Amino acid sequence: MLAEPHFNRHPGFWKMLTVAVCMALLGCLQAQEHQGHVSIILLGATGDLAKKYLWQGLFQLYLDEAGKGHSFSFHGSALTTTEKGQEFMAKVLESLSCPKDVALPRCAELKDQFQQLSQYRHLKTSEDYLALNKDIEARVQREGLWEAGRIFYFSVPPFAYADIARNINSSCRPGPGAWLRVVLEKPFGHDLLSAQQLATELGSFFQEEEMYRVDHYLGKQAVAQILPFRDQNRKFLDGLWNRHHVERVEIIMKETVDAEGRTSFYEKYGVIRDILQNHLTEILTLVAMELPHNVSSWEAVLLHKLQAFQALRGLQKGSAVLGQYQAYSKQVRRELQKPDSFHSLTPTFAGILAHMDNLRWEGVPFILMSGKALDERVGYVRILFKNRAYCAQSEKHWVTDQSQCLPCQIIFYIGHGELGSPAVLVSRNLFRPSLPSKSWKEVEGQPGLRLFGRPLSDYYVYSPVREQDAYSILISHIFHRRKGSFITTENLLASWVFWTPLLDSLVHEVPRIYPGGAENGHLLDFEFSGNQLSFSQQQLEQLVPGPGSVPKPSDFQVLRAKYRESPLISAWPEELIAKLANDIEATAVQAVRRFGKFHLALSGGSSPIDLFQQLAMGHYGFPWAHTHLWLVDERCVPLWDPESNFQGLQAHLLQHVRVPYYNIHPMPVHLHQRLCAEEDQGAQTYAEEISALVTNSSFDLVLLGMGPDGHTASLFPQSPTGLDGEQLVVLTKSPFRPYDRMSLSLPLINRARKVAVLVMGRMKREITTLVSRVGYEPKKWPISGVLPASGQLVWYMDYEAFLG
Ligand code: BG6
Repeated sequence: MLAEPHFNRHPGFWKMLTVAVCMALLGCLQAQEHQGHVSIILLGATGDLAKKYLWQGLFQLYLDEAGKGHSFSFHGSALTTTEKGQEFMAKVLESLSCPKDVALPRCAELKDQFQQLSQYRHLKTSEDYLALNKDIEARVQREGLWEAGRIFYFSVPPFAYADIARNINSSCRPGPGAWLRVVLEKPFGHDLLSAQQLATELGSFFQEEEMYRVDHYLGKQAVAQILPFRDQNRKFLDGLWNRHHVERVEIIMKETVDAEGRTSFYEKYGVIRDILQNHLTEILTLVAMELPHNVSSWEAVLLHKLQAFQALRGLQKGSAVLGQYQAYSKQVRRELQKPDSFHSLTPTFAGILAHMDNLRWEGVPFILMSGKALDERVGYVRILFKNRAYCAQSEKHWVTDQSQCLPCQIIFYIGHGELGSPAVLVSRNLFRPSLPSKSWKEVEGQPGLRLFGRPLSDYYVYSPVREQDAYSILISHIFHRRKGSFITTENLLASWVFWTPLLDSLVHEVPRIYPGGAENGHLLDFEFSGNQLSFSQQQLEQLVPGPGSVPKPSDFQVLRAKYRESPLISAWPEELIAKLANDIEATAVQAVRRFGKFHLALSGGSSPIDLFQQLAMGHYGFPWAHTHLWLVDERCVPLWDPESNFQGLQAHLLQHVRVPYYNIHPMPVHLHQRLCAEEDQGAQTYAEEISALVTNSSFDLVLLGMGPDGHTASLFPQSPTGLDGEQLVVLTKSPFRPYDRMSLSLPLINRARKVAVLVMGRMKREITTLVSRVGYEPKKWPISGVLPASGQLVWYMDYEAFLG
């Protein structure tokens, strides 16, 4: 008798077998899912970028992934005719190279396979896209494949985006279960508005997770190493990566090439939009962001990046220095057929001083700099640490990895320059860093080489084990859905929010012309003080005034005269502001000496900004600890709104000086979640606060301005309130936005011990002349009602306002 088969005796066995078979099948199905077919469509396949980097990147992807079970097809497309396109592609594909470790015959074989899988197609009309879709579907079916996804790489100018996006969305989406990824190249807009428009347009065709905006600097190995480095060296960096230890951060990208051949693009964008708004800003956020617990979670990285953007202090015109390569205008004239008289204002060089308003970085200068036609091609991020040590021994006895007196720095060397390759450098006297040993190796520098003021032997130097091109890395990230290396819409808009106001303010700025290359000498060196950046060297023509040159402040004496029976001080703006700041300080010192405190009421708007900055930066003897700050007027917007006068005061003065917070008195325009509602009695509350704290409600000094219509504070012509009567503080209406205002009344202003009226700029010329002739007519010209009862009135006017 045959023995009963083993499984008949174990009924459970069938169950197990079924489960095992099902698991295996499922496994097969899953494996099949992993082995799906991927179609990659390169739009703009005959362009420069494609030729230089993208085809090579796609080939690398094929080399890395094909052996792992995926099947691929590559479609190069452009508007070029099929014949020309094919010819171009054949040449480019022929020039592809394999990594060093691939033997030549194997390389030829792989290239051949890649060429077989790549074809050119003309893509223009919606029919072309329909046909592409059909072809992909037919191929997948014919070859019994399963479609994993499609990647459309837009290497085309942005004006072509919308059409392509519409066509892909309507006829080239893969079927259910397969993914779609679209890859976009900058420029992503020209300013905040255009970036928003473009983002909205793209958002109507693609979901956020389908879009991969490329910033190729995020693919550079040294840049991609910033977060992992910070993460892996937390134990050293936790205590160091902050304002107490970091002296400054430099984020630099220098180029030797100029913009020749690209002026039609460059003329619209310039260096700030081309490099700083994207590449350098991305790096800045990687250095400055709070480190997420999990640096490989792209969602966490993005969140922290956005927080870093929020902490960036707004840039002013004075935060930038601009230059232009001397041959640039000529190149523009030639390439864009402009007349001989044409001179471009587009900067090819920019230096920017940025600050972060948060506890980690407050006060640390972040210098961003980039330019064309400079002396060398190099990119790096340099974190220079403060050095508070004093070494008793002479320098020859200092030991590199022990001496605290040697400079301490960490450098992410992006590439080129003296080193010639990407690297991470850490001063030996800081710590021995830890880097992933599979991808980074410690190297000995060339003897004799010096970097950032020190011999290379002063640093631990690490280089990538395998140097890889940024585009190859990013293409691989796209394939693996590593979104952290790409720019999301939120990230993009946050960057434009930061840069647009500066760009707007620089539209008419004349850049400094530089000769290019080594001849630039020290012409483009710059230095900073507070928030301001300026070239270190005066421009030659300013040093040697020729006939007809513009007069300088020092050519004039401060003019003392009378205006409306009161003292007038007139000077060039710089000197006027300096004089007013000195006078305010003197008044403050005197008031504190006599009464123990100084009550200062300040106006908002643009005229006093320079004054605030001057007070903040240059007045160390100012008795801020005993100063009370009041507002002359306020716009009915929340205090954090950039339009708020308080916000101006905060940005330009308060954050730089030490006024006790209980001495700061913003106007209560925002009560009970509403703005300047009569019922909330904000004006009365402010009046009561003044009465309670300011003896006789008599400010020691009130700083006013004068509007072109004769308004002062927020008292406008024909105002029904505030020009007379008992009220100390009133709600008023302005003819300009924001319409609702709160203001000190004329009777309150006139109780002050001293009133200073600051009037600046040519725009004020007419009203200055008019008001000089009128009598007391506050209904028509509220400024004419400023007549302190027992105090002193002084007019401060610059020459443009006074003399025109
Ligand atoms: C691009 C800019 O984004 O970066 C170019 O548009 C610049 O103007 C280029 O030359 C520099 O990139 P890389 O990789 O050569 O440093």
